[in-house]
Amino acid sequence: MAKKLAVIGAGLMGSGIAQVSAQAGWDVVLRDVTDEALARGKGGIEASYEKFVSKGKLAAADAERALARITTTTDLEAAADADIVVEAVFERIEIKREIFQALDKLVKDEAVLASNTSAIPITKIAAATSRPERVVGTHFFSPVPMMQLCELVRGYKTSDETLATARQFAESTGKTCVVVNRDVAGFVTTRLISALVVEAAKLYESGVASAEDIDTACKLGFGHAMGPLATADLTGVDILLHATDNIYTESQDEKFAPPEIMRRMVDAGDIGRKSGQGFYEH
Ligand SMILES: NC(=O)c1ccc[n+]([C@@H]2O[C@H](COP(=O)([O-])OP(=O)(O)OC[C@H]3O[C@@H](n4cnc5c(N)ncnc54)[C@H](O)[C@@H]3O)[C@@H](O)[C@H]2O)c1
Repeated sequence: MAKKLAVIGAGLMGSGIAQVSAQAGWDVVLRDVTDEALARGKGGIEASYEKFVSKGKLAAADAERALARITTTTDLEAAADADIVVEAVFERIEIKREIFQALDKLVKDEAVLASNTSAIPITKIAAATSRPERVVGTHFFSPVPMMQLCELVRGYKTSDETLATARQFAESTGKTCVVVNRDVAGFVTTRLISALVVEAAKLYESGVASAEDIDTACKLGFGHAMGPLATADLTGVDILLHATDNIYTESQDEKFAPPEIMRRMVDAGDIGRKSGQGFYEH
């Protein structure tokens, strides 16, 4: 029997998670607060399936079957009989805690509640429920249908069984999991990229090398697909400054202290591709 998944939030990440899960045979209910958001999410999924079909990577009949497994709703109650719920709403702790509190009262005792947060400690979200041992982080990467990685995050009280269920779910969608055993700020992936961006920005700031040469060194020397400064421009210098500041505040580890140039760039509005100027002109 197909298992049931509820996805809360039909934005970029929620619709991507719904898409890969339905393709893997899960019955998916996708919930958002407005019909417009749901139509946008479902439309995006349809367009993405069509692209895979036109490239010969997915059979048209499979795409049709997958799409038929996704229902949309604005009613949170539709998550009541889900085996797993993945929350992918805005990155705001008060909204996430409110949703987890409501889900806790609604879903089966054995259901697993997962959050796709990229930075909020899972323990803080889990504390809004009466079942912190059944709460876990499933940090999928964007764009979900293309990216292979899912970072699984243990909250302070997450049980082994819950982690195993989350792993089975993520692997069923074709992802490879890495496990973050301690709920540290930035998990593993954001800590790594933050440390690299901070050092790259320091080298750039002090004139040791140009942005192009720093990125080329990482690409050709370490086989990175994209250099750290180009990554900062793509993600947003503001977003990375916020992430590194958070990690620095929690860890008090100097290597995450962002250099002044990142703050001045954000003050000046040079935040990367979004503004047309970052470490590079776009
Ligand atoms: N965008 C990325 O690259 C990325 C990567 C990894 C993780 N994340 C994380 O995934 C989560 C979602 O990010 P996103 O980029 O998909 O955001 P998004 O802004 O594209 O979508 C968020 C959706 O949540 C909906 N929403 C808000 N409140 C809701 C509620 N109470 N119930 C149901 N739906 C609600 C919004 O209407 C919106 O459609 C965030 O926690 C983010 O940090 C994002």
